[in-house]
Amino acid sequence: MSPSSVMESRGSVLPKLSRRAGGLAESATMEINRRAGELRAAGHEIIDLSAGEPDFPTPPTVVEAARRALSDGHTRYTAAAGLPDLRDAVAARYAGAWGAPWTGRETVVTVGAKAALFEVIQVLVDEGDEVVMPSPAWVSFEEQIRFAGGTPVTVPTDPKERFALRAQPLLDAITERTRMVLVNSPCNPTGGVATQAELEALVRGCVERGVYVLSDETYELFVWHGEKASVAACAAGAPDNVILIGSFSKTYAMTGWRLGWLLGPPEVVSKVIALQSHATSNPTTFAMYGALEALRSAQDDVDAMIRAFAERRSLVAEALDALPGVHCAPADGAFYAFPDVSEVYGHAGGIDGSIAICARLLEAGVALVPGIAFGDDRFVRLSFAASQENLRRGIERMAETLDTLHG
Ligand SMILES: Cc1ncc(COP(=O)(O)O)c(C=O)c1O
Repeated sequence: MSPSSVMESRGSVLPKLSRRAGGLAESATMEINRRAGELRAAGHEIIDLSAGEPDFPTPPTVVEAARRALSDGHTRYTAAAGLPDLRDAVAARYAGAWGAPWTGRETVVTVGAKAALFEVIQVLVDEGDEVVMPSPAWVSFEEQIRFAGGTPVTVPTDPKERFALRAQPLLDAITERTRMVLVNSPCNPTGGVATQAELEALVRGCVERGVYVLSDETYELFVWHGEKASVAACAAGAPDNVILIGSFSKTYAMTGWRLGWLLGPPEVVSKVIALQSHATSNPTTFAMYGALEALRSAQDDVDAMIRAFAERRSLVAEALDALPGVHCAPADGAFYAFPDVSEVYGHAGGIDGSIAICARLLEAGVALVPGIAFGDDRFVRLSFAASQENLRRGIERMAETLDTLHG
């Protein structure tokens, strides 16, 4: 068949996509990121506050370790679960900080926390199963649950409580169809955090009900108000129920390295490894050597980043709260501001929701993510993992646009 006759045949009997793929949409944050890139390529100057990505470089000792691994010939496959030394080092980190019982054998190194989540959801969620989670929540949770045939059951957190995670409403939402409760503290996008007492109550309740607790602790070190907490501290008392996911991306400014981890009960971990052996095999070998160095020597760099984020967090919340029609409390954790902009809706200017306001702000040269992508249309998300200069200029642009809209 010639290429032209191939084209002409389009539309007669088109091969089908899977039903699962039919419901799949691109991640809203990635979509905004792409749209901002397109506008930039067309010559517009865009201040991108949409990406959840530290503006710092990866610590130099980490880069150097990966470079050395390449020169030393670490360019081959490893075991599907990752470098044994790295698995041990991740497990040791939780044993040291939280008294967690996991060893390297109960640890998988994954292609980012995203792949860890994807794999464990595929392993645990059947068609028709429910996954209970707080809302607003990170965009990929719902998509990944639905892709596995599951149903997300969302339980609202309260802006008046700075979106703090509460165990009881989550436990109250459990039915006989619930397979797990998925929590994310500190939370993207709200900044809400859980206390250790709430996590303990959640784990206890889930053990009683025979349900898994899956805790995404990607932002574990970024706590600005209240205490740091982790389900790792409950794992010894609930070895069959607790699964923890973490990431090198945000903590070590290693987003592009694509490295995360998962720890949990042996039967869950062995299935995650089996799935990973068919899906990606091991994460990139020389990158894992860099990650090992991150755990060994990058704490000073991490502490410097944390200090910078803490400064930006107050600066941003104050500046946003002063904008017309905007209400913003400082985030308790993570590196996002999540202001309520709904007072601007319905005024002259035709803004009827978070997508419309983000589209208008993008035209004005600042990229944010609409809150509806996370489950609440009243809000927009702004990442303060950006330089102070970009934050200041981005908020100035918001002020100019909001002045005209809020009237
Ligand atoms: C809550 C949450 N989990 C997981 C991830 C993914 O992290 P990784 O880069 O390790 O895949 C993100 C990234 O934005 C996130 O916000």
